[in-house]
Amino acid sequence: MTRRVFVHEVAPRDGLQIEPRFVPTEDKIAWIDALSRTGLAKIEVTSFTSPRAIPTLADADAVLRGIARVPGVTYAALVPNARGAERALAANVDELNVVMSASESHNQANLRMTSAQSLAQLAAIASLPRGKVINASLSTAFGCPFEGDVPAARVFDRVAAFVTLGITRITLCDTTGMANPAQVGTLCRQIANRWPELELTAHFHNTRGMGLANAAAALDAGVRRFDAALGGIGGCPFAPGASGNVCTEDLVHMLEAMGWDTGVDLDALLAITERMPALLGHDVEGQVRKAGPATRRHALPQSRDELA
Ligand code: COA
Ligand code: ZN
Repeated sequence: MTRRVFVHEVAPRDGLQIEPRFVPTEDKIAWIDALSRTGLAKIEVTSFTSPRAIPTLADADAVLRGIARVPGVTYAALVPNARGAERALAANVDELNVVMSASESHNQANLRMTSAQSLAQLAAIASLPRGKVINASLSTAFGCPFEGDVPAARVFDRVAAFVTLGITRITLCDTTGMANPAQVGTLCRQIANRWPELELTAHFHNTRGMGLANAAAALDAGVRRFDAALGGIGGCPFAPGASGNVCTEDLVHMLEAMGWDTGVDLDALLAITERMPALLGHDVEGQVRKAGPATRRHALPQSRDELA
């Protein structure tokens, strides 16, 4: 029996939000349309934020309206407040990814709101006519660049608040790559035990090289949904030292090698990543793109000189 896991592509949102260069709207649309045909379960296509906060995603409405939707793919957008949710719903988003932080200081730095204000926005969104299509993303769930350790009790408090609002899709985000596999395993197990009805997603950044190890730990703890970004791009512009998400190609490669079915065509993903330096104006990360999949076989060289 194949074991199924679900990969969510967040490069068009988490990736582009920190890029220095504005990618033209039609290029974003063509890129997302190519991604739609690779078997990804979900694509986070943009964010409906203040264009002053995130200028590279100021074309959110045009992007969401412009893409060719493939049945079976969920098209999500990140929103920080009710205003963003209304804009996203008007552009016919499938899922609102409402963001807030586990730590008070990152919530302030990122959203210029207290946690209480963010929760009030979330409650307002949940009461909108189509406001039930919500995933709540909890930033800094494994550590905060300003406060350091984030107590598990704080994460449980936030999860409990989301559940009270009827939200059952929750993403635990390691915004600046502070999580370690032991911590990830413990926290994910505790949450799954306490709220078995939740559809949990893990969102890791590879800032300190622990991204894939954390994904493996979350998988072991029962998590079946993962955010990742093509070429390992991404990061929160309002978190010092932030850097790229777990690289989608490397994550898909690892999960498939471990015997899990991601539904994703790895070769198709790699072909899209090849075009990313041209799209972004710089090279991107990713081990599998450089080395090729582990299933690749090389001809035995006739002499050592051939290897040089
Ligand atoms: N979409 C578009 N514009 C929005 C908006 C939204 N969702 N929410 C607020 N705005 C506009 C306001 O209309 C206002 O515009 P104006 O200056 O032209 O009048 C401006 O943004 C500031 O509004 P205000 O309510 O004072 O917000 P703020 O400056 O306190 O910022 C946020 C609050 C949440 C809008 C802003 O911090 C933000 O968008 N943050 C997103 C951060 C992010 O995406 N981080 C990465 C993801 S983890
Ligand atoms: Zn992120």
